[in-house]
Amino acid sequence: MTSPSGCPIAHAFDPLAADYLNNPYPVLGLMREQAPVHYVPSLDHWLVTRHADIAAVLADPEAFSAANAQAPLTHLTPDADAILRTGLRNTPVLSNLDPPGHSHIRRQLAPLFSPQRIARLRPRIEQFTSELIDAFADLGRVDIVEALTFPLPALTLFRLLGFPDDDVEQLKEWCGEKLEINWGRPDADYQLRATTNMSHFWEYCEKYVEARKGDLGDDLTSDLLRQRDTDAGALDDREVASVVFALSFAGHETTTNLIGNALRHLLSRPEVWQEIGREPEAIPEAVEEVLRYDSSVIAWRRITTRAVTVGGIPVPAGARLILGLGSANHDPTVFADPEEFEIHRPDAKAHLSFGKGIHYCLGQRLARAESEIVLRQLAQRFPNMRLVPGQEFRYPRNISFRGPVSMQVEWTRTEDPVAA
Ligand code: HEM
Repeated sequence: MTSPSGCPIAHAFDPLAADYLNNPYPVLGLMREQAPVHYVPSLDHWLVTRHADIAAVLADPEAFSAANAQAPLTHLTPDADAILRTGLRNTPVLSNLDPPGHSHIRRQLAPLFSPQRIARLRPRIEQFTSELIDAFADLGRVDIVEALTFPLPALTLFRLLGFPDDDVEQLKEWCGEKLEINWGRPDADYQLRATTNMSHFWEYCEKYVEARKGDLGDDLTSDLLRQRDTDAGALDDREVASVVFALSFAGHETTTNLIGNALRHLLSRPEVWQEIGREPEAIPEAVEEVLRYDSSVIAWRRITTRAVTVGGIPVPAGARLILGLGSANHDPTVFADPEEFEIHRPDAKAHLSFGKGIHYCLGQRLARAESEIVLRQLAQRFPNMRLVPGQEFRYPRNISFRGPVSMQVEWTRTEDPVAA
């Protein structure tokens, strides 16, 4: 396929290059200005970068299927491909399923993520957060990703699904590998190991659902199984296991990354950090601005079901699109001074970080609640917390999921003498 414009920036675009992973926004800004809808040969995808075009794609599931949302980004080796084909017996259930199947599954799941359900979870999240913080509060310095922002969303979600705490370490490792397979460009050895582990992860979900059927508890998996008592449309075993498989991935790295991004930007602005400690009612606004300014999901995918135009550019049937959500969030036609981080921005919520339309993120209330709770507790307990100077942040090698892999923070303990 030839490139529709000769734009050199667009042609050289590589969303897995180190510079881009480190800071994608300058390149995305150039793409938005010079080639807002552009075929990227190295990935065999079209990149869409303007807010209006992305919103239009997301609003039209008939022309833009979500079937490729969870597919491996690049071609896998025949061995890795074979492992996925035979080992992964899950069925598309949510983010990669089109209507009418999607509407049915979404209807069954929506009540489990209602505002009331999430409000009921809040005390538990508050408690997990304070226990994790207690464990490092006296240290004065910590890798906050390792100590808090990684374990908290995983613990919350795995308990919500009903998984035993003892399995958490293993589950987190499996999830990291799925991320590279579906959104990265891993080498052949990695592909082999990761696809094998993805099959183990799927088997785990299948066995877990089977066991849960005879031992219902106070968790989301049991709630889905209980729907069978009263609802002819309840999900079958494979669908329930597929939902568990999908949620156990979607529901924690995304939030870990959001909280990590929030801490990076808030802690590097001490006056804003102190403001949210004094005025916690500003925290939801701060979270929205982080979602806009430095989202934890900067790209999502669709595939065209027929020849279409996107932003006036003809795109053929079967074209795979990368929707630059992070770029949309910096579009100056929507957000004034988009490169400024401003927690009181009145229209921050116009961001597309949770998508839009029928696939709008099912877990957004949970993600917002977890982020708000962590920021409130940290800002109130550690008003002088700061980033350890001189550290370089590293981001995972994939096109979609963005957040610092580690982050050293320090603070003066209240009993410590104030540094001169
Ligand atoms: C900051 C955190 C999160 C971000 C940025 C995020 C982002 C997204 C995005 C971009 C989509 C695709 C939207 C579309 O196709 O239009 C999505 C869908 C989805 N998200 Fe999230 N997500 C986050 C947290 C969560 C959590 C905590 C859960 C579950 C507990 C979750 C579950 C889902 C599910 C199930 C879907 C598919 C919904 C459907 O297809 O109907 N997400 N999310």
